[in-house]
Amino acid sequence: MPDFDRTASNPSTYDHSTDSPTAFADVDHVGHQFDLTDRTTQQNTNPLRTGLRRERIPAPCVMVIFGVTGDLTARKLMPSLYDLAVGHPLPEGFSIVGVSHREWDDETFRGEMRKAVEASARTPVTDESWDLFAQGLSYVRGDFDSEGVYTTLGQRLDAIDDERRAHGNRLFYLATSPTFYAPIIKHLGSAGLGKRQDIYYDRPDSWNRIVVEKPFGRDVVSARELNAQIGSVFSERQIYRIDHYLGKETVQNVLAFRFANALFEPVWNRQYVDHVQITVAEALGVEGRGSYYEESGALRDMVQSHMLQLLAVIAMEPPALFNGNALRDEKVKVLRAVVPPTGNEVNLKTVRGQYEAGFVSGRAVDAYRDEKGVRAGSRIETYAALEFGIDNWRWAGVPFYLRTGKRLPRRVTEIAIEFKQVPHLMFQSIGDLDLTPNVITMRIQPDEGIALKFAAKVPGATTQLRPVRMDFLYGSSFGEAGPDAYERLLLDAMLGDPTLFARRDEVETAWTLMQPVLDGWDELRTPVYPYESGSWGPSKAEALMRRDRREWRRP
Ligand code: BG6
Repeated sequence: MPDFDRTASNPSTYDHSTDSPTAFADVDHVGHQFDLTDRTTQQNTNPLRTGLRRERIPAPCVMVIFGVTGDLTARKLMPSLYDLAVGHPLPEGFSIVGVSHREWDDETFRGEMRKAVEASARTPVTDESWDLFAQGLSYVRGDFDSEGVYTTLGQRLDAIDDERRAHGNRLFYLATSPTFYAPIIKHLGSAGLGKRQDIYYDRPDSWNRIVVEKPFGRDVVSARELNAQIGSVFSERQIYRIDHYLGKETVQNVLAFRFANALFEPVWNRQYVDHVQITVAEALGVEGRGSYYEESGALRDMVQSHMLQLLAVIAMEPPALFNGNALRDEKVKVLRAVVPPTGNEVNLKTVRGQYEAGFVSGRAVDAYRDEKGVRAGSRIETYAALEFGIDNWRWAGVPFYLRTGKRLPRRVTEIAIEFKQVPHLMFQSIGDLDLTPNVITMRIQPDEGIALKFAAKVPGATTQLRPVRMDFLYGSSFGEAGPDAYERLLLDAMLGDPTLFARRDEVETAWTLMQPVLDGWDELRTPVYPYESGSWGPSKAEALMRRDRREWRRP
């Protein structure tokens, strides 16, 4: 066993690239222990990382992907698994069983997955490495609601245990439409494939876990129901609710920035911070997912999950330890203090928008209502802006402005902490001042990094001040791009490390913050303002900020 306490409390051992002491924390101890101590990365050539990085190798296991013919598997899961396999941290004999209703067999499955990997993996595909990886791929065809599929699946998994020594370790992944979650979970339970490990487990040396994709419910009630359904088959520590934003290096770096530096935390509060802006802008439209989006909209798709996670890591109190429960306790605590707009306030503190036709990056694009699967006259928002308060000692009176939208001018996710003006400006009398408040901008993507804006004197005999920027760029400081968020999260799920996954109470609390907004939009028939594709959203969103004498940044 690694020395858990010492590692967890010693931040100097924390490598915020791929490895962290969280690997030792909250690990599902029903599973295998693996040797984490004697492996160092040989291929590590970046001097800034030397000596920091340890590979974390999961125990042998099988991953079962439900909905394997879908877009998520092709664009994210399979390429990330391939990248992980080539980068060596996957166990020998690692296998993937794909389940779907499509008329595929093992060969078609492998062929389709090769195409997907070639299109989206970071690592180039060679015949040799592909053949090795593909040996572990097999396909089970059938409807998610048919019992027979689970019998076949069970037999296949037993055979893989024998042939490839998977030791009964299984990671189920729900990559289907959420309508199939309930039947899949029910059948896994009745086929004896998803045994609750806190109640009964006949193979104490092996584990099974389930990863659940978002959307996790569509309101408070359905999220609770889904939690109850999964909880009747799997125990909480077997459940991994994925939010890929938490797997992004830059989101984890928010924690390092805040809690591994003495400089920023003392000013990270209502005394110094004027307000916080969180922007998740996308240039893409709904990309063929019109029918999904019609049931979702920007609030459910982006705000409830990704954006509230960003808010939580920015606003939470410092956890005492860097482990799954300590971190998630703090996130839940701050989410519980968030005050969403309610009643008539909803029309004052939120804005909904929907994109019309326009040009993005010089390309003509259609209106949302002309996308496939979208109802004529749809009132679904593709843009949402909201103002939240946080009722606690640190943040009382500091507004948090959130906005997200599709078909905005470019893809950019950033968090900006805007500070208050200094209390007395002695330069006032000398004129020619161009003073804007200090801003810390955390760029989550692209051009990942952190910038600090501050005032500086313009060289010369007169006293002129101008804002300047100090920049940290991930790419130039560390010389390499981080892994895809899914790589990190899939590996963590196999390792039994839940730190970067959402806990039951976290997801339910996030929905309770959305509920008054959803209800308000319904009851008040909140208008959905059209905005031209390629613009920064409806002008009404500007008014939301102007009312508070503030403005959105132009990232
Ligand atoms: C997904 C949403 O969760 O996140 C999509 O369903 C969105 O609508 C995507 O496009 C954005 O992710 P990223 O990593 O590209 O910012």
